[in-house]
Amino acid sequence: MGGRSRGHGQSGIMRLCMTIDRIMGETFDIVVLAAGKGTRMRSDYPKVLQPVAGRPMLAHVLDVARSLGPVRLCVVYGHGGELVPQALAAPDVTWVRQDRQLGTGHAVLQALPHCATGGLTLVLYGDVPLLRSETLRALLAQAGPGRLALLTVELADPTGYGRIVRDTAGHIERIVEERDADASIRSIREINTGVLVAPTEKLADWLPRIGCSNHQGEYYLTDIVAMAATERLDIVACQPAEAQETLGVNDRAQQAEVERALQWRAAQQQMACGVTLFDPARFDVRGTLRCGRDVVIDAGCLFVGTVELGDRVHVGPHCVLEDVRVASDVRIAAFSHLHGAQVGAGAQVGPYARLRPGTRLDEAVHIGNFVEVKNSTVGAHSKINHLSYVGDSSVGKRVNIGAGTITCNYDGANKHRTVIGDDVFVGSGTELVAPVELGEGATIGAGSTITQYAPAGELTLARERQVTRPGWKRPVKQAKGS
Ligand code: UD1
Ligand code: CA
Repeated sequence: MGGRSRGHGQSGIMRLCMTIDRIMGETFDIVVLAAGKGTRMRSDYPKVLQPVAGRPMLAHVLDVARSLGPVRLCVVYGHGGELVPQALAAPDVTWVRQDRQLGTGHAVLQALPHCATGGLTLVLYGDVPLLRSETLRALLAQAGPGRLALLTVELADPTGYGRIVRDTAGHIERIVEERDADASIRSIREINTGVLVAPTEKLADWLPRIGCSNHQGEYYLTDIVAMAATERLDIVACQPAEAQETLGVNDRAQQAEVERALQWRAAQQQMACGVTLFDPARFDVRGTLRCGRDVVIDAGCLFVGTVELGDRVHVGPHCVLEDVRVASDVRIAAFSHLHGAQVGAGAQVGPYARLRPGTRLDEAVHIGNFVEVKNSTVGAHSKINHLSYVGDSSVGKRVNIGAGTITCNYDGANKHRTVIGDDVFVGSGTELVAPVELGEGATIGAGSTITQYAPAGELTLARERQVTRPGWKRPVKQAKGS
């Protein structure tokens, strides 16, 4: 399949959703082009470091590149200097610096000395982060020593892209950039995605010979297509299952479009695994989310870093969970923010709860509204239900902490711990001035300021006695002018 004798149009173009029945024979290297400035992003940072789904877009491209198992993975970088290799340093990446961005052809040429002579080279773009592994595998399956394989796509609006020009028999003749195209070429809807696989030796022959007499004065990689056609090499075109995969990021609007596409994929993946998403269009994962069975996630939730949700966990609307482990049967109510926390089975959190790093809630703990817990452990069945701050504390089992309780953990220089034994009852509006300990079963009277050990099993009060002054009169306003 895939020779120059194929006809034009759909039938002549490999549909990549087909099963790949050919084992990839050739070894190949990958060259990722990532040197460009990305002027239209209007940013001080290199474009390929701009995030999508919480990671630099280049990181997504490197993921898919790695999944293909190349011999060498080269990244051509330039704009932004060492920021790019620093941000994405990895032992399996060969970084090739292109000091001046003279065009895509020039960029690939810089990487060629690092590619194996006998094999193939797959060219990817650092700003095209939606390509799927399957699409590229299918493209590689069509490639070979005497062939040039291009990933093309038909777009309703091809504006801005290089057009695939075919002869009357449907053979690909050349690629013409939008800026160098006349009206008839501009009307062609099949475009160059930029992704291609070529024999490395051929690239070494062609690239030094391409010129720069075009509208942009650049060395166009796309000029190799006309060279291949002149040599009567097989030129095959493959299409991705979805045109959206080839979406490139040139401006903030496209960055947002790619973001939504990645999030849509993440949502589909979760639903395929049995998660209920009340609104997959309002669901964001910036990292890895692993869910057990029958997990339910309401609208507007954001999952950052590594998040694990056990079986039957319910996450209410508009929650943010970052690097969190949640055991089974937990309910997290609306507008809760959990970061660096572990939540035990059957616990209830929120609404409006904040769990900060170092928090561990054991089984069936209740954390209610406007409660902040930091760097603390809370034992099984304990409750902190309203308006409290618990920091640097060890809270035992079956403890009840009344509304408005505050651990005063910071003296302005150092943090101190509060230790609360099992079965303690802390009355509302209490201040626990750390370091301090409440013995097992202690009861603290409401409104106390506790600065010393409160003995186990006893009632401790630390507040002024209530006094009443009989006959006392409120001051009255003096009449004006007197
Ligand atoms: C390129 C293709 C065009 C295709 C389009 C698809 C060429 C000449 N044109 O156009 O046919 O339709 O992609 O998106 O190849 N880069 C470097 N060094 C350079 C120049 C570019 O590394 O000297 C990198 C950029 O960072 C970018 C990629 O190559 O990741 C593409 O460059 P860009 O200038 O965006 O090419 P387009 O004009 O979009
Ligand atoms: Ca581009």
